[in-house]
Amino acid sequence: MSWFIATLRSSIGKKLMMALTGLGFIGFLAGHLAGNLTIYGGRESFNSYAEHLHSLGVFVRVAEIGLLFFAFIHITTGLLLFLDNFSSRPVRYRVNKSSGGRTLGSRSMPYTGIAILVFVIFHLINFHFVDKTGTTIFNIVSTAFQNPIYIAVYIAAIVIVALHVSHGFWSAFQTLGLNHGKYMPIFKTAGLLFSLAVGFGFGFLPVYVSMIS
Ligand code: HEM
Repeated sequence: MSWFIATLRSSIGKKLMMALTGLGFIGFLAGHLAGNLTIYGGRESFNSYAEHLHSLGVFVRVAEIGLLFFAFIHITTGLLLFLDNFSSRPVRYRVNKSSGGRTLGSRSMPYTGIAILVFVIFHLINFHFVDKTGTTIFNIVSTAFQNPIYIAVYIAAIVIVALHVSHGFWSAFQTLGLNHGKYMPIFKTAGLLFSLAVGFGFGFLPVYVSMIS
């Protein structure tokens, strides 16, 4: 455990933790998106996917505990890095110009991260911690998306997730030392394509579900 605390104390250790847990979330998002795309196959197809997933029983529980652990590490180290950056520059620059390759995605990482945390809590209350007796997962999702406010909240949250991922994807590979002139453009393009898949794949779902319900 002492190596873990020592890792969290060093700046590069914190960045490594962010990168590894971030890549774990990217894997989760890819799996969650693939599963949710079964909604486009209609009610039966989505319910059958959810039943198969739940039939994995203990494996799903282990994955959930893993996700929770990753979330704890990612949020704690993210906050520590944010505070480190802040305290190492107590006097704010008067001109906050975007320079040196800083993008909207990179500058907004702490804020989009907090917004995603709030969204995930809201999302789990809606779809995960609900009484599922006598109903189906498709009914739960389609009832939520009858409400235009839910549709708007989901679309806004998914744009934020896509923005966070567009920077986090290639930044994680850079932290892991793969900052090679030959490979970085590939990671950047893959990150852009993945964030577009997340944005359009998840983002259109609430609208589609509200149309077929
Ligand atoms: C329109 C978009 C989305 C839909 C329709 C959707 C749907 C669902 C549903 C139905 C569940 C509950 C599964 C169950 O308990 O049987 C779920 C769980 C979950 N979703 Fe989403 N989701 C969406 C987007 C997202 C996004 C963007 C994220 C992350 C930023 C996310 C993170 C999660 C997490 C962490 C869980 C809990 C997983 C688990 O318990 O194993 N979801 N989602």
